[in-house]
Amino acid sequence: MRIDVVSIFPTYFDGLTLSLLGRAQSTGILDLSVHDLREWTSDRHRTVDDTPYGGGAGMVMKPEPWGLALDELAAPAETVSETPRPTIIFPSPAGEVFTQATARDLATREHLIFGCGRYEGIDERVFEYAADLGEVRLISLGDYVLNGGEVAVMAMVEAIGRLIPGVVGNPESLVEESHEDGLLEYPSYTKPSIWREREVPPILLSGNHGAIATWRHEQQLERTRQRRPDLLG
Ligand code: ADE
Repeated sequence: MRIDVVSIFPTYFDGLTLSLLGRAQSTGILDLSVHDLREWTSDRHRTVDDTPYGGGAGMVMKPEPWGLALDELAAPAETVSETPRPTIIFPSPAGEVFTQATARDLATREHLIFGCGRYEGIDERVFEYAADLGEVRLISLGDYVLNGGEVAVMAMVEAIGRLIPGVVGNPESLVEESHEDGLLEYPSYTKPSIWREREVPPILLSGNHGAIATWRHEQQLERTRQRRPDLLG
């Protein structure tokens, strides 16, 4: 999968070279490039924002650098006759909420472009223009406001990236996670079996795999009922 990220703070994404996603880049499973939006400015101050038409607080990101960035990154490769159109994602508190289902859907795409807005947002015409180049999605990390899209994109790239086949060494570990079956994950324990007078639930030491599976499922249901009743519908 190819992922391009455009931001005025590209160093935010240094962390994506670590751990599993770092390895996926070294092995070629993931082709991740982070770009500085200011590369597509031409004035001395490398300006990316301006005051809003109609007045109001804050600044709005100018359309010109975004247009040039999208032209370059979303352009079909000349060598390939049928390059798929990219999915162009703008993180926004005004977008659809990102879930594990969103991550699963986006993990099947060949090319994702993330455009990180800052300030009061990006000139609306950029979204219209982007729709000519690919499928545009406005996606929110949750019902709260961040200072910009960078943290949201970090979270999305990690959630999507780990679902690409080969990124997580043991694919079975993906199956039993929270949200994969609509429930929260069961509790986990490791050695020692008694720690500071707290015992591991004896069933887990019984060797009875059927009984352990039943217990874990009950724990999933109980946790989900307590913490996230909304998931049970
Ligand atoms: N940018 C600012 N707040 C955001 C949020 N909640 N999700 C995605 N992008 C954002």
